Order: sequence, then C-alpha cells, then structure tokens
Amino acid sequence: MADQTPTHSKQYPEDRSLDTTLRPQKWDDYIGQETIKRNLSILIRAAEARKEPIEHLLFYGPAGLGKTTLAYLIAKELGAQIKSTSGPALERVGDIASVLTNLSSGDILFIDEAHRLNKLIEEVLYPAMENRSLDIVIGKGPSARIIQLELQPFTLIAATTRIALLSSPLRSRFSGGIFRLEFYTQPEVERILQRSASLLRVTLEAQAAAEIAKRSRFTPRIANRLLKRCRDYAQVHTRSPVITQEIADKTLELLQIDRQGLEQQDRALLDIIIKKFSGGPVGLQTIAAATSEDESTVEEVHEPYLIRLGFLERTPRGRCATARAYEHLGLQKPGQSPLLS
Ligand code: ADE
Repeated sequence: MADQTPTHSKQYPEDRSLDTTLRPQKWDDYIGQETIKRNLSILIRAAEARKEPIEHLLFYGPAGLGKTTLAYLIAKELGAQIKSTSGPALERVGDIASVLTNLSSGDILFIDEAHRLNKLIEEVLYPAMENRSLDIVIGKGPSARIIQLELQPFTLIAATTRIALLSSPLRSRFSGGIFRLEFYTQPEVERILQRSASLLRVTLEAQAAAEIAKRSRFTPRIANRLLKRCRDYAQVHTRSPVITQEIADKTLELLQIDRQGLEQQDRALLDIIIKKFSGGPVGLQTIAAATSEDESTVEEVHEPYLIRLGFLERTPRGRCATARAYEHLGLQKPGQSPLLS
C-alpha cells in the first residue's frame, strides 16, 4: 500500500531528518504541551514504582506538533526500547504478528498514522492490547482454528492526525489516556527556535525569532524548517551565522509565507473558494480537485490552521471562506460594505 502521508514532511523531505537532529533528547528539553507532560510524568512515575509497563497511549493533533517526539521521550524516561512503525506499513496480519512477537518485555511499540490501520490489523490489536494475546486465525470455514500466543508486556503508543477516523473499539483500548496536542504559543515557539538555533550554531536575534514564530503556524516542525532556511539565507548573503530580523523578513518573503503564516497553497485554496465558488459552501472533493491536492492534504495540512485563524469554516454543507479570509486576501465580501470591513 502506498504511503500517502499528507504532512508537511511529505512536501519538505528534509523535515524528518531535521526532526531528529533538533528533536529534544531529554524530557526537560521538551518545551510546551505542559498539561500533557504533567499527566504523562505521573503515569511514568507510577508505572515505574509498580515495575509495570505504562498503559497504552494515543496522541492526536495536527502534524508537526511533537507526537513522535513525546513517544521517544517516554521511552527514554522509562529506559525502554521503542520500535516504530506506521498504519500504512502494516498491510497484512503477518506484518503485525511479526512486530508483536518481536517485542521484549517493557518495549514500547509506536504506531504513527494510526488512522490508516486496516480493519484486519485493528482486530489483531484488540486482544493484544487488552490481554497481551495474539489471536491468529488459521484456515477458513469450518476447519478454521485460532492460535493464541502470549505476548510480552508492552505499551502501544499510537499517533494520529485524524482521531475521528479511529474506530471506537480501538480508541477505547488506550487505557493510559488519549491526549490532544495543541498548537504552541508564541513564546513557546520562540524558545524552541532559540534552542534549535544553538544546536545549529547560529545566533538568532530576538526580533527574528519573534517573526519566524509568528509565521510558523505555531508548529515546531515548521518553525525549525523556516529557521534552517533563514540560516541558509544568512550564509549566502552575509556569510555570517547571525539571523537578524531583516534576514528573517527577506527569507520569509522569498518563501512567500505571509504575516499570518499562510503559504502559497493556503492562499490559493481560499482564493478558489472565494472566486470560483462564491465563498462556499463547497465540498472537500471539489476543493481538492480545484487545487490539485489530495483530499487528505487539504483536510490535514491546510484546513486545521485556516480554521484556527478563523479564515475557513467547516459546515455540514461544505467549506466556507469567512469575512476574515476575504479581508486577508484584500477582497470584498459581496453584500458587505467596504466601510465595515
Ligand atoms: N523541537 C520540536 N518540538 C520541540 C519541543 N516541543 N520542544 C523543544 N524542541 C522541539
């Protein structure tokens, strides 16, 4: 099955390796998501005291907010081994059976893009999560038999950008908790950028950090990517490892990222809804076709931030551009007096 990950890492292939270079290596280096971290700390400490693996966890939220990073940090805190796979990588029952039987006691199994797990794999996971039992059906019809294998105690940590697509039986088995990662605050992104700048051995002036943070969609993965582009710009134009506000502005302008953090594709999406479909409502399929994007990319990459900015609304009849979107693009909403906008 082809991997159709509609994340920014698909569009910017260097993001994944960047993630690992700049990824926090210690619990205390992880900035933000404070409530989640407090809850997880308790889970970790309690499980350690009982000498048991922590219960299964589910992280969800938009791409790039640090779901994978959290899973790796939990493993590090516990001194546990982490084995990583993803929904689309697990095609057949044999794939998940092999992953599960290769787990040692206390291991963490991380499954990214859990919403892309197929039904057969989910069904193997239910008993595995609930009572560490691997139930495999051999054969078909009246001669079919179930073989049961006992698995080592393990913790499943799953991550998804689309919690609504997870079946409710699967969701209900995350007994350790289901945690929603939030967009970061401006000061948190600035701190993340300063930490990354020191790892990359560049000086990031405070105003430059503020500017990059403002246009980062409050997403560390995007902030770090923009920081690297600013570093490149400084290197080429000033031969110096100092990122000033002027360098940040010029880099972001060159990347066509506007003051609200919208990229060319985001503006094109709003522009099409407004100009071709009179502001909406218009269906997801139609938007995807008109913008030449995957439906899932529109839904998982572009829409969450446009909705957060109040530029787009999802209604039962389709997507609508808001008055703010018209204003941002310098367009006038029909029926609205220019004096009011
Ligand atoms: N890099 C990416 N996400 C981060 C986070 N939450 N804290 C620190 N550095 C990060």
